[in-house]
Amino acid sequence: MLTDAVRLAYGQRAAEYTEALGSLSAMAEEDQNLVSGWARDIGGPTMDAGCGPGHWTKFLHDHGVAVEGVDMVSEFIGGAPARFPEVPFRVATLEALPADDGALAAILSWYSLIHTPPHDVPALLNEFARCIRPTGTLLLGFFEGDQIDAFDHAVVTAYCWPVPLMHDALAAAGFEIVETHTRVDPGQRPHAAIIARRLSGPSL
Ligand SMILES: C[S@@+](CC[C@H](N)C(=O)[O-])C[C@H]1O[C@@H](n2cnc3c(N)ncnc32)[C@H](O)[C@@H]1O
Repeated sequence: MLTDAVRLAYGQRAAEYTEALGSLSAMAEEDQNLVSGWARDIGGPTMDAGCGPGHWTKFLHDHGVAVEGVDMVSEFIGGAPARFPEVPFRVATLEALPADDGALAAILSWYSLIHTPPHDVPALLNEFARCIRPTGTLLLGFFEGDQIDAFDHAVVTAYCWPVPLMHDALAAAGFEIVETHTRVDPGQRPHAAIIARRLSGPSL
């Protein structure tokens, strides 16, 4: 399974990834401002879905959010408590998040869908929608591109998405778009972040 390949690839490089990218100092100031601004309005239980080393989970915790970090890579989840002892973490997959229907006020998915084969992304967005209560929000960070394309990411194959197609996928999963941000940092692939709100109404 492709999920197993992603889990194995990150498991083998978890220490290296944590060293290179597992701290706030490695995160762009614009992203920190976006996440902290979003965090102000959450007001309920939140999941950092695909948290990796857990630095964004810790960031949300420090901003007063009742957050739990989940990731399928046990090497990340095993190491996080030593770095961030006050923050809860557990091993889980994005395919079956450990949350009851509508139990969450928000989900952060910061680059956690980038390795998901594009035809599987709608199912994961549906899973996010299942867990987020109506009017709750999702903050999604991902690589932007003119079309959906695979590329050789340093860890394992990743995909970039055009913003309009991600908007469509979010709408199909029952979200409305609140904010979209795009940016190209020197030497980096184009970046996009979308805040989307879970619509109320009949179940999806
Ligand atoms: C690019 S890293 C991002 C990690 C973290 N959010 C960050 O910003 O550094 C992608 C993360 O998503 C996790 N991930 C990818 N697919 C997943 C899945 N199906 N279930 C759980 N975790 C997944 C990976 O294990 C990895 O930790």
